Amino acid sequence: MDIIICPTAESAARWAAEAIARAIRAHPTIVLGLATGRTMESVYEILVELHRTEGLDFSRCRTFNLDEYVGIPADHPGSYHYYMNQRLFRHVNIDPHNTHLPNGMAPDLDEECRRYEALIAKCGGIDLQLLGLGKSGHIGFNEPLSPFYSRTRIQRLTATTIAENRSLFPNPDEMPEYAITMGVGTILDCRRLLMLVTGESKADVLARTIEGPLTALVPASAIQFHPDCTVVVDEAAAVGLRQREYYRCVSSSQLEWKQLSICGAPR
Ligand code: GLP
Repeated sequence: MDIIICPTAESAARWAAEAIARAIRAHPTIVLGLATGRTMESVYEILVELHRTEGLDFSRCRTFNLDEYVGIPADHPGSYHYYMNQRLFRHVNIDPHNTHLPNGMAPDLDEECRRYEALIAKCGGIDLQLLGLGKSGHIGFNEPLSPFYSRTRIQRLTATTIAENRSLFPNPDEMPEYAITMGVGTILDCRRLLMLVTGESKADVLARTIEGPLTALVPASAIQFHPDCTVVVDEAAAVGLRQREYYRCVSSSQLEWKQLSICGAPR
């Protein structure tokens, strides 16, 4: 695992966005895994800016999002379909047919989960998966006790996650209690992982993710298994990392190499 400590949330988001942009330029047909949440808003802003100013070309990219709420339609302002359309898809030249999110309105949700897994496999797997980190220790919506080998499935959300995310709904009472999420195993199958974590409120869960024991109680700790995982954080999120001076020293001396490595051949 590589830990990159950036001075601010903004510079961390820029590091992540530029790494994604490099990967797209190097591999225009890349299969990207996308994430939602407040942390990712600046990443998508920067990607849109790179599309407008430098012509970053999404026309041949395919995307799969980590998760979607159950029971709210794609045009609902709280849905992740809506989030992705508003923040990225409608501002760049991506083909909507190449963008995929689980359908939380599917009549048979188990079948929808199987369909999503099969579609990822049909596209050859995910080359680069962007990840946020939930305060409950989740990646995607894999809440505590999610098995490390879990696949795309329905997940009941924890009280922590509901409390965190309900303010993102125009009417917080509409916040669903269930979501479809890629499993931890689905995420570990991605060729590369790029996690972005910012803000002091994430310091404790970040330390448990990176330096804590591997435990299904902190599903994000599973990234310790992944052979090609980069975690980009800001100083505020890094305050709880015991080895942060070592990570800082590695990242400052090898920053250029890390950026090059993440845009290397994904297959
Ligand atoms: C949601 C998403 C996660 C994301 C998390 C962090 O719960 N399902 O994929 O990592 O939010 O969100 P934020 O960046 O708002 O803290």
